Amino acid sequence: MSYSFILTEKHGKAGLIRFNRPDALNAFNRGLMAELVQALEDFDKDDSVGAMVITGSDRVFAAGADIKEMASASAIDMMLEDKLGIWDRLRRIKKPLIAAVSGWCLGGGNEVAMMCDMIIASETAKFGQPEINLGVIPGSGGTQRLAKAVGKAIAMEMVINNRTLSAEEAYRFSLVNRVVPVEVYLDEALKLANEIAARAPLAVRSGKEMVNQAFETFLEEGAADERRAFYFLFSSEDQKEGMRAFIEKRDPEWKGR
Ligand code: CAA
Repeated sequence: MSYSFILTEKHGKAGLIRFNRPDALNAFNRGLMAELVQALEDFDKDDSVGAMVITGSDRVFAAGADIKEMASASAIDMMLEDKLGIWDRLRRIKKPLIAAVSGWCLGGGNEVAMMCDMIIASETAKFGQPEINLGVIPGSGGTQRLAKAVGKAIAMEMVINNRTLSAEEAYRFSLVNRVVPVEVYLDEALKLANEIAARAPLAVRSGKEMVNQAFETFLEEGAADERRAFYFLFSSEDQKEGMRAFIEKRDPEWKGR
């Protein structure tokens, strides 16, 4: 299958998906999101694959949702399209998902990394939820999963004051499994995926489901509320100003309206 915004490969029993929108720093447009979910579902059905790795480039995992695609959308547009609803399919993938993260991992990029079951980070990885700079909040579970992963104090700083975590901090705050040199982060993730793929498949599937149940119970409701709040902010002048300012490469002027 050929895709426009991602590349897929197999490494032993690991299915690898690489984001491939370098000019937009792998920002998630509709096409990339649909292709990612489709490729994951295909690997999930493929008996020769036991686990999947999602990665970007050494420079950037992903810079988040495509700001240019949504800058002029109204709240009603956002709610009717329910663009972020597609991530519910990612959460239904049965095989283990590992994010191999290097460079920027921001906004929706960080949210997708957190939807994976494990994160292997390169020393250059930087994790953040910069939506506040655009006059909005995370909309793909970021507020909910961050609060659970790193705790309230750090999550709050990240969500309402754009604190960015270095790879070492992300490790210290339990956001990632391990930090390795940039030369080997992808190999490490593929090795881990192959190790897991060699284990008893039904027990792996069950283990993933149960650990996620511990982590994600009650999260669905919170994530649905978050998504609505994210869409609602598209009725504000500040969202229009924030996203326009990003595109025009200037500082936004907030009005609180
Ligand atoms: N959407 C669309 N385009 C993006 C983008 C995004 N999220 N991030 C970067 N780009 C584009 C830039 O507009 C630029 O395009 P042009 O060359 O056409 O001007 C190109 O990618 C390169 O970006 P920069 O010149 O900005 O690169 P940099 O190295 O100076 O900065 C960066 C890198 C710090 C990651 C910066 O690009 C940035 O801050 N990006 C936006 C990050 C962000 O706000 N993400 C949150 C998005 S909202 C979201 O994800 C909501 C959600 O929860 C669903």
